[in-house]
Amino acid sequence: MKEIKTGVIGCGNISGTYLKNFRESFPFIRVEAVSDLDRARAEGRAAEFGVPRVLETAELLADPELELVVNLTVPAGHGPLNRAALEAGKHVYCEKPLALDRETGLALAGLARSKNLRLGGAPDTFLGAGYQTARRRLDEGLIGVPVAATAFMVCRGHESWHPAPDFYYKPGGGPLFDMGPYYLTALVYLLGPVARVTGLARASFPERTITSQPDAGQKIKVEVATHIIGGLEFASGALATLVTSFDVWGGQLPRLEVYGSEGSLSLPDPNRFAAPILHLPGGRGQSWSEIPLDPGYTANSRGLGTADLVRGLFEGRPHLASGELALHVLDIMQSILEAAASGRSVKLATACERPGRLDPDFK
Ligand SMILES: NC(=O)c1ccc[n+]([C@@H]2O[C@H](COP(=O)([O-])OP(=O)(O)OC[C@H]3O[C@@H](n4cnc5c(N)ncnc54)[C@H](O)[C@@H]3O)[C@@H](O)[C@H]2O)c1
Repeated sequence: MKEIKTGVIGCGNISGTYLKNFRESFPFIRVEAVSDLDRARAEGRAAEFGVPRVLETAELLADPELELVVNLTVPAGHGPLNRAALEAGKHVYCEKPLALDRETGLALAGLARSKNLRLGGAPDTFLGAGYQTARRRLDEGLIGVPVAATAFMVCRGHESWHPAPDFYYKPGGGPLFDMGPYYLTALVYLLGPVARVTGLARASFPERTITSQPDAGQKIKVEVATHIIGGLEFASGALATLVTSFDVWGGQLPRLEVYGSEGSLSLPDPNRFAAPILHLPGGRGQSWSEIPLDPGYTANSRGLGTADLVRGLFEGRPHLASGELALHVLDIMQSILEAAASGRSVKLATACERPGRLDPDFK
């Protein structure tokens, strides 16, 4: 079987999921080397997953054997390392967000195009059975013409469980840049590109206290908005409301719903690959019922987007978790914050095609 020699940069919390999934589900992604600012972490992951080489990041980027770089560093590392990897002639798949700002994202997309390299970005949860089913049913007209959507992600932040939660309160973090990509990618996948946004934002608490180990008791200075309300106008004319918050202990809100001329769909948590989908047909007196999921990925399959990028490369077809999609989502997030700061609506600088559906036989 054809393989791609791959280097993984960033060996923290999420790297275990990627390395496990590459090894067990997508072995054509052959991880030859890992690197991390903290060498001990890279050594730990290499030992755990049988990765042959632990390198300094500069060595990994300069290694001519490696054709693909998977960037699993914190958000501040995404733009600079993605650029360095593309400049070194490597295909890139990056965790979200693609970069900290749209200008950097635009430059990355341009660089990848000019060098004929693949650029892809998380999330890839929309390739799971949940959103693949939703997309098929929506395109078949189950709820008629989509007119509106709501998306809610409210929680009290990640300092209670993540071992190094600082980055969630620095630029590139906050609930919008951290969790927004799941919700916005799902919305764009279903409804197409966004044309214009409005926004309101605040940081309700200037300081956070870590309660997870190993840094329990330490304080984090909050540098980003932590409760953000976005209004989205899609190019199709549909409207959506997005609320992302790290300031709320809990709520009873749906995760993501789409409302059409002929009914409604209540959809899975877009941070997951599958969960039940509920459908309400139009008309008085109807009730919600569960619709069956199509066959597909249901477990935590992070890395599926990378696998599709590589298969796309081998087969000469576009990949689905694309740089254009990740850039458009980044543009939406930045535009919401700009709208909040200026008090005016903001027109998007980018657009993207709705990616197609994952081949049901994809392996
Ligand atoms: N933890 C999760 O559940 C989760 C889930 C999905 C996506 N993500 C995303 O994955 C990314 C990483 O998250 P994480 O939870 O694994 O963070 P983490 O802090 O646990 O790990 C990040 C690792 O990257 C390393 N690193 C940072 N800058 C680097 C640089 N310039 N060069 C080399 N190494 C560098 C750090 O030393 C650390 O080991 C983030 O963008 C996050 O949003 C995390």
